[in-house]
Amino acid sequence: MKKVSAFLIALLSLFTQGDFVNSQHYDPTWASLDTRPLPPWYDEAKIGIFLHWGVFSVPSYMSEWFWEYWRTGNINAKEFMAKNYRPGFTYADFAPQFSAQFYDTQRWAEIFKESGARYVVLTTKHHEGFTNWPSKNSFNWNAMDVGPKKDLVALFVEALRAFTDLRVGLYHSLFEWFNPLFLEDEANNFTTQYFVWNKTMPELYDLVNTYKPDLIWSDGDWMANHTYWNSTNFLAWLFNDSPVKNSVVVNDRWGKYTRCKHGSFFNCDDKFNPGKLFPHKWENAMSIDKSSWGYRRDLKLDDLNTIEELLQLLAETISCGGNLLINVGPTKEGIIVPIFEERLKQLGSWLKVNGEAIYASKPWSKQNDTITPGVWYTAKNSTSGTSVYAILLKWPGKSLILGSPITSSVTTVNLLGYPEFFNWEADPSGGMKIEIPPISYNEMPCQWAWVLKLQGLKNQFVPYPEITIN
Ligand SMILES: *[C@@H]1O[C@H](CO)[C@@H](O)[C@H](O)[C@H]1NC(C)=O
Ligand SMILES: *[C@@H]1O[C@H](CO)[C@@H](O)[C@H](O)[C@H]1NC(C)=O
Ligand SMILES: *[C@@H]1O[C@H](CO)[C@@H](O)[C@H](O)[C@H]1NC(C)=O
Ligand SMILES: *[C@@H]1O[C@H](CO)[C@@H](O)[C@H](O)[C@H]1NC(C)=O
Ligand SMILES: *[C@@H]1O[C@H](CO)[C@@H](O)[C@H](O)[C@H]1NC(C)=O
Ligand SMILES: *[C@@H]1O[C@H](CO)[C@@H](O)[C@H](O)[C@H]1NC(C)=O
Repeated sequence: MKKVSAFLIALLSLFTQGDFVNSQHYDPTWASLDTRPLPPWYDEAKIGIFLHWGVFSVPSYMSEWFWEYWRTGNINAKEFMAKNYRPGFTYADFAPQFSAQFYDTQRWAEIFKESGARYVVLTTKHHEGFTNWPSKNSFNWNAMDVGPKKDLVALFVEALRAFTDLRVGLYHSLFEWFNPLFLEDEANNFTTQYFVWNKTMPELYDLVNTYKPDLIWSDGDWMANHTYWNSTNFLAWLFNDSPVKNSVVVNDRWGKYTRCKHGSFFNCDDKFNPGKLFPHKWENAMSIDKSSWGYRRDLKLDDLNTIEELLQLLAETISCGGNLLINVGPTKEGIIVPIFEERLKQLGSWLKVNGEAIYASKPWSKQNDTITPGVWYTAKNSTSGTSVYAILLKWPGKSLILGSPITSSVTTVNLLGYPEFFNWEADPSGGMKIEIPPISYNEMPCQWAWVLKLQGLKNQFVPYPEITIN
């Protein structure tokens, strides 16, 4: 018995769920690259965690843009430096204090798993240019030579794969604020590609070949067009010949004018949240700290998304076809502070009850209810028919009117995590009126947002993204 199941598992692992076998050849043009189908794992995953970690985690003041603010004369940054550091202190002097001394990747992996996320995206290099892995192209400005004296990326990737089945994503900034080669290309109006040739591309290929990420989250694209970055050549290699050609997904930041146009999924802007169905797979990348992606030592409780706000964003995003990428900034010591950990665990506890409405769901024919505000819909097909999930951001009174569902004689309503069906009747509005029974505090399946499962509706349910935007 044991032997048979071990054999089956080995066989199944040859075809990792959510990947596809890529037999298509892509040309280095957007017209060709855009025809690549999205590997299914990404849409099914729905929730990812984003980690902004680098030398900026040492000052941990203002945001991960601290160096740029300081260099361009921001008054807060200048005062902070004058008050707290000796004259002549440079940004590079922060690097030795990037200690990562409590970096416990098994513990990180457990936090991510408990959050219910299905992928994690780590910054390998932000605009400051410091690489969290021992890049040969980043002499003395990488985590092995200075600061942690460790390959932070390898440790992260290995732990995530050893202790969870979450997918590995790597963030990479194309440009670096103050890299002399980049500044030279910029001075040449990007008619030269010294920086791309000597830094950007060797590092991107190195990251893919060494760590085999399933997701590349590109950034820092806006200074020059994709021809300068050589993006389409890189992506053609990634999709045709790289070790992750069957599983990898990429975002849309590959040069000026590529956002919201090209890529496996679109980020468009930071914290993009269209509030209506969007005709291409997209991701809402947001941060639990509303004011920063990197850790801030002067963080205040009011700066954080509450669990209620986070679940609202989740409901809006998933209903409209997006994924939610939730950022937390670890400290320079490598700690995910307990307030972030708590928020992630709250999310995980909610998903344990309500994950059925989220993972592998599809947008329904209506995204939010036409009558009652704060009700967002997802849907799923199964052998027993279509299930529609109504996510209620507020607990209703004795009854709830939903305008969007068209009922039939076999319609049923139940609350996820609660054993009994709810009574309902047709409503004059054309929708339905659901009777909410008294449920004692101890019987409440969760504390912050509740999901009604509706079955046997008459509404049609068209595969996304063929639903037209209204
Ligand atoms: C870059 O473009 C500007 C404005 O178009 C021009 O004045 C400058 O001479 C150009 N520089 C180079 C190095 O081509
Ligand atoms: C990209 O920028 C370069 C340098 O400015 C220019 O020569 C080229 O025409 C641009 N290409 C596109 C597709 O915009
Ligand atoms: C950068 O790359 C170019 C080729 O595009 C090469 O000629 C040049 O020597 C390189 N510069 C440095 C500093 O490595
Ligand atoms: C761009 O990619 C092509 C194809 O891989 C390669 O031949 C070329 O050298 C690359 N140019 C730069 C600047 O990286
Ligand atoms: C549905 O959501 C949209 C976008 O957030 C909003 O404008 C609209 O008012 C919502 N409908 C109801 C009934 O709340
Ligand atoms: C769900 O199933 C129905 C009936 O089989 C089908 O018409 C519809 O396209 C399916 N929707 C999705 C999103 O798969």
